[in-house]
Amino acid sequence: MPPVPENSPVPPDRAVANNYDSFAEAYTAVNEASLINGYYTRPAILDLAGDVAGRRILDAGCGSGPLSAALRDRGATMTGFDSSARMLELARQRLGPGADLHLAGLGSPLPFPDDAFDDVIACLVLHYLQDWTAPLAELRRVLRPGGRLIVAVDHPFAVHLTHREAGRDPDYFATYNHTAQWDLGGQTVLMSFWHRPLHAMTDAFTAAGFRIAVISEPPPAPGARELFPDDIEDTPSGAFLCFLFLVLHAG
Ligand SMILES: C[S@@+](CC[C@H](N)C(=O)[O-])C[C@H]1O[C@@H](n2cnc3c(N)ncnc32)[C@H](O)[C@@H]1O
Repeated sequence: MPPVPENSPVPPDRAVANNYDSFAEAYTAVNEASLINGYYTRPAILDLAGDVAGRRILDAGCGSGPLSAALRDRGATMTGFDSSARMLELARQRLGPGADLHLAGLGSPLPFPDDAFDDVIACLVLHYLQDWTAPLAELRRVLRPGGRLIVAVDHPFAVHLTHREAGRDPDYFATYNHTAQWDLGGQTVLMSFWHRPLHAMTDAFTAAGFRIAVISEPPPAPGARELFPDDIEDTPSGAFLCFLFLVLHAG
């Protein structure tokens, strides 16, 4: 972790947080087969996407490309972008030299024409952003009318409960920054997220011209309970609060 200068105008945790370039390999290794990614988030996104054969899909915040690879295997034509150059290098190793990958950030103008995609996937990226207005406007612009935005984002109730269980008393109805330490295979990294209440999410989507088609709180994939018996409660579905999944249609 880089040293934080004394009297830095940026709070220390914010100065070094979310530096995916510095932990790209470690994050990618964990992401491959973790309960949260491999046996919960990716299966849920693929399930919501359904039959994608022939569809042009943008993977926003594609990371090292595991979803792009899975969607491409199912017949989609994939484009990806990410703000981390190192994550994109790993995506290129996974997807091959011809992969359509771009260094770009949600919140800035995207290097794609209007109506370029049938679907956009935004998997575990929106919760890094304080303001969703410009990012969602850009994702709406590059989607064809009727196209789908498929999202996985921190579940606001899960964030709220986590803070309460830790003895903090956050205002659920506020949009606020919170930080966490992740242990990635021995590497401790600082992460910074934005909590927003459920209504702020749905308001942002509808203000950007999206119509909510699905809100999903899926259980983990079949087989997860056997692989992660200590992490999944013994309930009929095994479902737990972690991320919120949505399918939105571009109006
Ligand atoms: C938790 S990872 C998820 C990666 C991938 N979507 C997946 O599900 O495996 C978040 C990714 O979002 C990227 N990211 C964070 N903020 C971003 C932004 N403003 N614009 C584009 N990418 C961003 C990070 O570099 C990282 O690769």
